[in-house]
Amino acid sequence: MSSELQAELQTAVERRRNFAIISHPDAGKTTLTEKLLLYGGAIHEAGSVKARRAQRHATSDWMAMEQQRGISITSTVLQFAYRSCQINLLDTPGHQDFSEDTYRTLAAADNAVMLIDAAKGLEPQTRKLFEVCRMRSLPIFTFINKLDRPGQSPLELMDEIEKELGMQTYAVNYPIGMGDRFKGVFDRGTRKIHLFERSEHGKREAVNTVIDVGDPDIETLLEQDLYYQFKDELEMIEELGSELDLDAVHAGEMTPIFFGSAMTNFGVELFLNSFLDYALKPGIHESTQGEISPTHPDFSGFVFKLQANMDPKHRDRVAFVRVCSGKFEKDMTVSHARSGKTVRLSRPQKLFAQDREVIEEAYPGDVIGLNNPGVFAIGDTIYSGQKLEYEGIPCFSPEMFAFLRNPNPSKFKQFRKGVSELREEGAVQIMYSADEAKRDPILAAVGQLQFEVVQFRLQNEYGVETLLDHLPYTVARWVDGGWDALHKVGRIFNTLVVKDSWERPVLLFRNEWNCQQLEGDHPELKLNKIAPVVS
Ligand code: G4P
Repeated sequence: MSSELQAELQTAVERRRNFAIISHPDAGKTTLTEKLLLYGGAIHEAGSVKARRAQRHATSDWMAMEQQRGISITSTVLQFAYRSCQINLLDTPGHQDFSEDTYRTLAAADNAVMLIDAAKGLEPQTRKLFEVCRMRSLPIFTFINKLDRPGQSPLELMDEIEKELGMQTYAVNYPIGMGDRFKGVFDRGTRKIHLFERSEHGKREAVNTVIDVGDPDIETLLEQDLYYQFKDELEMIEELGSELDLDAVHAGEMTPIFFGSAMTNFGVELFLNSFLDYALKPGIHESTQGEISPTHPDFSGFVFKLQANMDPKHRDRVAFVRVCSGKFEKDMTVSHARSGKTVRLSRPQKLFAQDREVIEEAYPGDVIGLNNPGVFAIGDTIYSGQKLEYEGIPCFSPEMFAFLRNPNPSKFKQFRKGVSELREEGAVQIMYSADEAKRDPILAAVGQLQFEVVQFRLQNEYGVETLLDHLPYTVARWVDGGWDALHKVGRIFNTLVVKDSWERPVLLFRNEWNCQQLEGDHPELKLNKIAPVVS
């Protein structure tokens, strides 16, 4: 390889940081995102991200459903520069648009930021997303938000993370007071206290008043009781807590913790600076050719998400590709591993919120949006040079199920084609009852939105109106050892046995409790939350 390209790739990788935020609705993801963009200079006044969300109602060319509901089905990648780094923030759809895509986005991320509301602690959606991060051993950085409001004590919150998620914690900064008496945070790296000043909704970057812990006025500045409480707690975590161990952070075994208040802009800059220092840069990826380094001269990447019909006028589809190695250039020709076809990537897009902009080049750690004329599926690898394939993206445990009925027999062919194409695209998982008499497909989804998208698209793209028959199950488990292992167990109660698209047995339970009961009764039966990838 030319030494110029080598140097260019090395510099690009050195400068890149890529992450996704995992959180529960209302923890402050939109607010934190805005504040990060504010520091990155990508926007000039906080409020713009939310304003865009509202504006979308008025834009004419988004998928009709997006407009009707005012929600975003579109994944966005926010790229911004800070210090000398290029930061890629992969948006994980949440709220009503929570879907399997939310999990898949984590397959393209190198780091995760776990955002927690200080009053609520760990919440269900965060736990689910955490499990996916754990499966991938992603480094997790924790931002504990809303310190300007009354919340749980910092020690309790750290304890909850340690005990429930099984991760060591290291408080990079430590708060002094909380709610009305929130005074600021102590930065353990520089051993300085950053004083909190209430500002009007944190529209601009926060004023940063920093004092030394040895400052003679400290007791008055912080109020005596808070100062002594802070001293005691700090002594405790410094004596009993672990040291910051970056190897453990990178292995997802230790989480650096930051306290702050995204709304008032407090602690965001401290967080961003440390994050850039500690986060993983784009690294190696496992492939059929062994480990592929990001500085490998040949371009390669994988599809982690597909987006259909963002612009119905053009029926256009976008495949989101995470670049893993080499340099991507507009108009380059690549090979598509699954089909063996050659594809010219002529209209690559970078996505900043909803604005689509054609890009000229991209590097490892970046995400590009490619026009997808039905060629790409989730998990596909594209490459130049020697053939390789990255490990696909697994099926994540669905939580809602419904029979999909086609009431009009004359539309049978379109119905079958539509279901099969939408499954291949990864819009929803398709299962079938093990009882051969029930032949309607079962839609299996992570979020309600996936059902709506499937019905909408079947009607709009295939001309088939469908009905849903919801099933009362919320937990799915794949059976290790397949049908043989399942048959050994004999009759199982309180479960529906179904098969996935690869004819593998899946057990559906009404709730976790039923699932645990079966596991207790039959310890020999191994059940998986995530289906192994079929190559
Ligand atoms: P999300 O994307 O995770 O769902 O959360 P979002 O940022 O929309 O924040 C949810 C609510 O929490 C918002 O209030 C937001 O202002 C508030 N919030 C976020 N960060 C902080 C913080 O650090 N301190 C406090 N006190 N509040 C915070 P809202 O009333 O729903 O909306 P808005 O009227 O403020 O826009």
